[in-house]
Amino acid sequence: MKKNILITGGAGFIGSHVVRLFVNKYPEYNIVNLDKLTYAGNLANLKDIESKPNYSFVKADIADLDEMRRIIKEHKITGIIHLAAESHVDRSIKDPFTFARTNVMGTLALLQAAKEYWESLPEKYDGKLFYHISTDEVYGALELTNPEGIESPFTTTASSSEHHLAFGTEFFLETTKYNPHSPYSASKASSDHFVRAYHDTYGMPTLVTNCSNNYGPYQFPEKLIPLFINNIRNRKPLPVYGKGENVRDWLFVEDHARAIDLIFHKGKVADTYNIGGFNEWKNIDLIKVIIKTVDRLLGNPEGYSDELITYVTDRAGHDLRYAIDSRKLQKELGWEPSLQFEEGIEKTVRWYLDNQEWMDNITSGDYERYYTDMYQNR
Ligand code: NAD
Ligand code: DAU
Repeated sequence: MKKNILITGGAGFIGSHVVRLFVNKYPEYNIVNLDKLTYAGNLANLKDIESKPNYSFVKADIADLDEMRRIIKEHKITGIIHLAAESHVDRSIKDPFTFARTNVMGTLALLQAAKEYWESLPEKYDGKLFYHISTDEVYGALELTNPEGIESPFTTTASSSEHHLAFGTEFFLETTKYNPHSPYSASKASSDHFVRAYHDTYGMPTLVTNCSNNYGPYQFPEKLIPLFINNIRNRKPLPVYGKGENVRDWLFVEDHARAIDLIFHKGKVADTYNIGGFNEWKNIDLIKVIIKTVDRLLGNPEGYSDELITYVTDRAGHDLRYAIDSRKLQKELGWEPSLQFEEGIEKTVRWYLDNQEWMDNITSGDYERYYTDMYQNR
């Protein structure tokens, strides 16, 4: 069957990688990218595929139910990969309502519009899928029981030989109870519940995946890795929240996009899969790797940018440790990260240094004002 796939949030960071993968890999599908183009949406992320015949873009707000009804019907959508969201924790602390509107009400509007359209067809839900992209942050925070790190119990072909650590003995599983702390994660948790409710109540074929921190090209420079690369290049302070001891599990964004492709096609309907990098880093250790890599690639002497490290007030409610156990996806569908972290971070730093124009275009104007205000008021 010809697939008409709606990808929401396709002009954002992860969405642009998913759109690119699907447009290039599946010329027989129609890929419709739906995005409101908020501050985080940028069509420059998709320059290389925008003129492909199987790609189209629609500017719309997922919280506009009538628009969702119209677009889903007009494009005869058979599959939805839903990434559109407000995604930055710090912004959610300042403005939780925007997060509830987009992440909760927006997801609900999309679910309802898909339900009405699919139920109106003779074959109803046959061959349809609503795939919701979520985050590991819904599970809350894990203890940091081993602050110096212990050997990670997980291995993949991409496991790093130099850094293969876990900072505790507990991990997020698909069965871990939801316990979100930030307005962002509370809104994502709520949207996950609505997606599952549409399956359980109306029989809609749905799927949810919860992924750890992504990094790579095209990430908006309010997030740790691109922000720090850009600040090092511009000799600006590197604001480390608290003591820099929080732990995150990092995954190269193209590996997330590959997982989404696999799960969209082979995942079990109504199921949940955790996607993680098997790659825990304490923020301060990761920051030192970024500094070292940027300095080396810019030809600076080793240690040149260490002085930019600036400890600042901690993020309110800052989750201590995230660590995903994604062995279910590894065992059931054979997915693993393909890149060692050292390769991934090298590729990422090089990309940002080589694409300064992309960075300058989004760090000028409104964003520059937001950033200055955010950090002056910490
Ligand atoms: P992003 O902020 O880079 O992109 C979000 C996109 O959604 C932007 O293009 C924006 O314009 C669009 N958007 C926002 N509000 C919209 C609305 N009301 N209607 C239509 N479009 C709207 O986000 P990202 O980092 O690419 O994250 C994408 C998804 O993946 C989110 O659902 C996020 O919760 C989830 N996720 C992200 C990570 C991560 O590390 N970045 C990890 C796990 C899960
Ligand atoms: O875990 C998945 C989540 O990862 C996604 O759901 C979110 O959309 C995504 O933004 C990301 O959330 P984090 O809050 O973990 O990412 P961020 O890049 O904002 O921060 C990473 C860590 O670095 C976190 O512990 C906070 C810290 N940090 C961040 C910034 C921006 C700093 O110390 N200084 C900073 O300036």
